[in-house]
Amino acid sequence: MHQVTLGMIGGGTVGGGVYKALHTGGVSLLASRAGVRVRLKRIAVKAFDEPRKVEIPEKLLTTSWREVVEDPEVQIVVELAGGTTVAREMALAALRLGKPVVTANKALLSAHGEELFAAAREHGANLYYEASVAGGIPIIKALREGFIGNRIESIYGIVNGTCNYILSRMEAEGADFEEVLAEAQRLGYAEADPTLDVDGWDSQHKIGILASLAHGFWVRPEHIHVEGIRGIAQQDIRFARQLGYSIKLLGVVKRLRPKRRPDGSPAGTIQVAVYPALVPRQHVLASVSDSFNAVFVRGNVVGETLFYGRGAGQDPTASAVLADIADAALDLKHGVPDRVPAFRPHEQNGSVRPLGECVSRYYVRLTVTDRPGVLARVAAILGEARIGISSVMQPEGHEGRTVPLILMIHDAPNSAMQEALDRIRKLKVVHGPAVMYRVEDFEGGKD
Ligand code: NDP
Ligand code: HSE
Repeated sequence: MHQVTLGMIGGGTVGGGVYKALHTGGVSLLASRAGVRVRLKRIAVKAFDEPRKVEIPEKLLTTSWREVVEDPEVQIVVELAGGTTVAREMALAALRLGKPVVTANKALLSAHGEELFAAAREHGANLYYEASVAGGIPIIKALREGFIGNRIESIYGIVNGTCNYILSRMEAEGADFEEVLAEAQRLGYAEADPTLDVDGWDSQHKIGILASLAHGFWVRPEHIHVEGIRGIAQQDIRFARQLGYSIKLLGVVKRLRPKRRPDGSPAGTIQVAVYPALVPRQHVLASVSDSFNAVFVRGNVVGETLFYGRGAGQDPTASAVLADIADAALDLKHGVPDRVPAFRPHEQNGSVRPLGECVSRYYVRLTVTDRPGVLARVAAILGEARIGISSVMQPEGHEGRTVPLILMIHDAPNSAMQEALDRIRKLKVVHGPAVMYRVEDFEGGKD
């Protein structure tokens, strides 16, 4: 039996889960299925006396991550420390020694992925990251291997469990965002600082990784438009429901037809964004509730596929790390570092089209004075911008008082829509901000 020695950095939620899974059957399953016996030799942590959910024998622990990386017996380095600064150093140090790295760190990949994958190629070591997107769901393996013969037309992902939990509870209970967030924090589902999750950054990290893998060029985080869920009002969830939709935070990647702008410059070839969107209630993603994740992928050969499961948590994430450990161990066993290319840039002309140039349908909620002619003035501004209304809803109001006016809008370019809304907001009969969410029909990229 081929033997492989692991070193791990991080013994917290995920690290503890990996330790537990390896010692409760993982080692023997990997041995029988992959023909490799793995041995976890050392685990680096920040402090010996930190209380841990999974108890790790003290003889395995060290507070020096370099000791793990530089140990000549350690052949695979598993980075589960988190963060982007020291974690970058850890990963680079291991790759420079030609050691494969397994990581769950989507923030690290989002910030430094290009550099890390280049280092991996340069030093003939692989970088595995299944756990970085959607926890236990094997979406990286699916895109990298299962769909290798497909052109990926679109990806729609519910990739943040915290946001999906909050939105599901808001819809089911009629509660407000702040109320549900506070409860999620009390139950430990949401972090004390929820910014990374509720403002969309965690989804941005994950969808950027999927977009890069699917389209063969590195998608930089600054090219990904991000909107979070903080501003979603209970009334929008209610109106969306009346119209036949649920609101979900989606990470979206759409392949677009190559085209040139009026000045002749090439427009981007894909659309990548994170935003709350109205999802038709009959679409399978509308029924993904609580903290579950799901990724809907359309390939030109395979058609529509759906991946569903737990996107975070100790055990689901450990499951993904174990799969990567098996792949890295097989690389070592066969002596072929790029048996499964982690990420191979192959698209020279790829770029992200700014969201302003992308087309979609919209839900708009205005607060207007209930008075004759208001709807006509709003419709006139939209009409001048060649933007069509597909339906209108207004709860019965009282003349002269304010009332919500809901408009469903046909396909329109985002920038034209924003400009029209800016004009509408300036009307005296329109009060407060205009609320706008995209409506997804899952038809892929539109021009
Ligand atoms: P935790 O905070 O629970 O654990 C981090 C671990 O790393 C701790 O054991 C900590 O030591 C150790 N550590 C931190 N800095 C250092 C350092 N400089 N040197 C040595 N050890 C260090 O984090 P998680 O396990 O939740 O997350 C780990 C990674 O997995 C992150 O990148 C996260 O984004 C990712 N991830 C997490 C998921 C989850 O459900 N938690 C899901 C998917 C991905 P000590 O124990 O002493 O504090
Ligand atoms: N905070 C993330 C979520 C889990 O809520 O989905 C880690 O990726």
